[in-house]
Amino acid sequence: MTNWQQHEEQGMAAIESAASSEALEDVRVGLLGRKSELKLALREVRERETGALLNGIRTRLERRLAERERSLASAEIERRLREEVIDVTLPGEELLLGHLHPITQVRRTVEDAFLGLGYEVRDDREVETVEYNFDKLAFLPTHPARSPRDTFFFDEHRVLRTETSPSLIHALEQRSPPSYMVSIGRVYRRDAITATRYPIFHQFEGLAVDRGITLADLKGTLLHVMRALYGPERRVRFRTHFFPFTEPSIEPDVSCGICGGSGCRTCKFSGWIEMGGAGMVDPEVLSNVGLDPAEWGGFAFGCGLERTAQLRHDIPDIRALWEGDLRVLRQF
Ligand code: DAH
Repeated sequence: MTNWQQHEEQGMAAIESAASSEALEDVRVGLLGRKSELKLALREVRERETGALLNGIRTRLERRLAERERSLASAEIERRLREEVIDVTLPGEELLLGHLHPITQVRRTVEDAFLGLGYEVRDDREVETVEYNFDKLAFLPTHPARSPRDTFFFDEHRVLRTETSPSLIHALEQRSPPSYMVSIGRVYRRDAITATRYPIFHQFEGLAVDRGITLADLKGTLLHVMRALYGPERRVRFRTHFFPFTEPSIEPDVSCGICGGSGCRTCKFSGWIEMGGAGMVDPEVLSNVGLDPAEWGGFAFGCGLERTAQLRHDIPDIRALWEGDLRVLRQF
């Protein structure tokens, strides 16, 4: 075997054993690059015979290089097809889409209704002082809500607020009227858990303080909010009542949206549904926040959000709103 035959065989072996396109390129440079043995020899060649021999070797090496290049490239494609396979026909991962809790939905509807009237929306502290939760709201010293049997006390002076009204007292003290605002948030009462009561619940409470406010303003505002909550056909009526902080005090009813007023199970066949409490702000409460009752007047009304959600969706048991059972909540 001549040196050149040997050179060719070694070259072929090197081409075969190159494991990647990069390695093959190194082999090519070594065999056929400008400074390779073969290229230098070809440049020097004088006789036809040697020239033919060397050209033959070069051609065969080039052909083998090209073949190896192709097979390395297709092996690469095979590998990527195997490793990076994405089957677009397989079902994708399901992203579960949540929605707002019914209480949050009601809360937002209430906020929208009041914002539409130009009211300010407030939330506030849930730990209140007896002074703000009861005294400033003109609760008599003998009022049953002041008892630890009705209210959660931390100590003699601090309670979990039993209504959203204290937030409005804070606001009235911080600014001068006219004030139009709604306080929405959690309140606490020591009630046993039943289908209609839960010791934690939400209220919204609207308050307007201005000059020349009348009961007609209260009625119009309530009607607006009730229609936002229950639909444009609703009617509102008032029954007299007592609350420490309003005079006169009333309980508003809204016409039943389920039967339209003709009587059904939800409205206990009366055609009307109780909505909470309302009234004209008691002069004593205005004095308590430093306002002159001869100049300023106001109205207030409060409703429970749970009750509103129950009525909107015909949910018979308030506990469903607190248990977080997705089988229930997904329905709303
Ligand atoms: N605070 C009362 C309650 O929780 C509801 C209420 C009654 C709110 C009369 C008011 C009102 O604003 O004027 O039972």
